[in-house]
Amino acid sequence: MSHEMPEKNATDIVALSKEFSLDIDDIRNAVVKYFRAPLENAQGGNLLITLEKIKEQRKKGTMIMKELILYYSFGGATRRYAEARAQEDGAELVEIKEVTKRNGFTAWIPGVFQAMGHTKTAIEPIEADLDAYEKIVVAGPIWAGNAAPAVNSAAALLPKTAKIELVLVSGSGTGYGEKLAAAVRANGNEVTEVVNVGAKKN
Ligand SMILES: Cc1cc2nc3c(=O)[nH]c(=O)nc-3n(C[C@H](O)[C@H](O)[C@H](O)COP(=O)(O)O)c2cc1C
Repeated sequence: MSHEMPEKNATDIVALSKEFSLDIDDIRNAVVKYFRAPLENAQGGNLLITLEKIKEQRKKGTMIMKELILYYSFGGATRRYAEARAQEDGAELVEIKEVTKRNGFTAWIPGVFQAMGHTKTAIEPIEADLDAYEKIVVAGPIWAGNAAPAVNSAAALLPKTAKIELVLVSGSGTGYGEKLAAAVRANGNEVTEVVNVGAKKN
């Protein structure tokens, strides 16, 4: 997509609404959501890219949702995924932190046994108002074929009002997410998507 007018700003709202076939109110709401700032502060190329995204989403008939990316990462691969995803989606990003920090040894013992037993370990309070989001993406690593324990802890706190996407990052990148999805569904949440990501692709 290329636009000729990077200096274009919110004062061109009427022209923008025509160009992108969006109501002025749609533009206002979307801009506040994406930029977390009033329309007047959203300017230039970023605004145009955002409007292009909105137009695409409207075309597909999907809604723009207020989205949170909630992630746990031990080695950094999930963090890289989560950061890129937050940027791409215009979502908030919040880390899940275990109260007792892991090292290379405790990730394996007791970590893998806790993961295999679907244990919930103590996590620090999540720094977000979970009820405020329409969509929550929970991302975390796979340990011994299961979600790392801190992911189970966060998954148990998800509000029933949000649509949940689960992203499991693993060495192999295959097929592990369904176990966590079953647990989250059993808890009464709506899981709309389960994504398995190979760590090497990050
Ligand atoms: C304790 C432990 C157990 C793991 N078990 C598996 C496994 O069973 N299958 C797999 O594909 N990858 C496994 N991995 C690899 C991680 O899932 C992969 O490196 C992931 O990207 C780590 O995410 P992170 O860097 O965000 O912590 C394991 C890693 C650790 C530390």
